[in-house]
Amino acid sequence: MTIRKSIKLQYLPFICDIHSHILPGVDDGFQSEQDALKILRQYQDDGIKHVVLSPHVDPGMYPKNNETYLTNRFHSFIENLPEDIHLKMYLSAEYMCDEQLQTNRQLLFLGETGVLIEMSYFYQYPYVKETIFALVNAGYQPILAHPERYIYLSKKLDAFDKFIDMECLFQLNLISLSGIYGPRSKIIMHYLFRHNMYSYTGSDVHSLRQYQRIRDIRVSYKLAAKIEELMNNNKQLLSLQ
Ligand SMILES: [Fe+2]
Repeated sequence: MTIRKSIKLQYLPFICDIHSHILPGVDDGFQSEQDALKILRQYQDDGIKHVVLSPHVDPGMYPKNNETYLTNRFHSFIENLPEDIHLKMYLSAEYMCDEQLQTNRQLLFLGETGVLIEMSYFYQYPYVKETIFALVNAGYQPILAHPERYIYLSKKLDAFDKFIDMECLFQLNLISLSGIYGPRSKIIMHYLFRHNMYSYTGSDVHSLRQYQRIRDIRVSYKLAAKIEELMNNNKQLLSLQ
């Protein structure tokens, strides 16, 4: 008999997804309401009970996506859900961390004061630090989405320590565990896990196929224990425990 030393992500207690692009037709995530409903049903079947819809807010890419527009879209989506959908849904956003992210407006928080931010995948944008400082000064908690995707930092790993020094927290993308972002992303992930630098985890799901892929990812039991901790932290972020 062979004893398995790894476990599929679908068997971990993922109750609360804090990062998704399921709100249909507002960004590069789910486009049709039909597909959005399919994944919500799949989430329910898998035991997920809380899901944060976090569309991109990036005026250069998605000019319509501001807080008012997304709030209206969110309400019209959840008010017309079929009766068999019981998931608790929350609206937040994934903000491009640049000079356009101002703290003088009502942001779409993740939890009480969390602000989910992302950066360019190609280079470190000059306003990132200033924007993070402004968020912290305003009393908000910046949460950097998928730090392991900024592969240009794989040879400057101390850059991540600097983000932590700036009071930024990190959110792991579950799909990154598949190795889809290549060896440099793995170097970053190993570093961040080894130094316990991740706080949360999310699917960042953009399509049904991507979610299926996440469910099938196998991780060692040792890594699974760390991921479970992050999944637990997600609940705290939404004040569920
Ligand atoms: Fe995202």
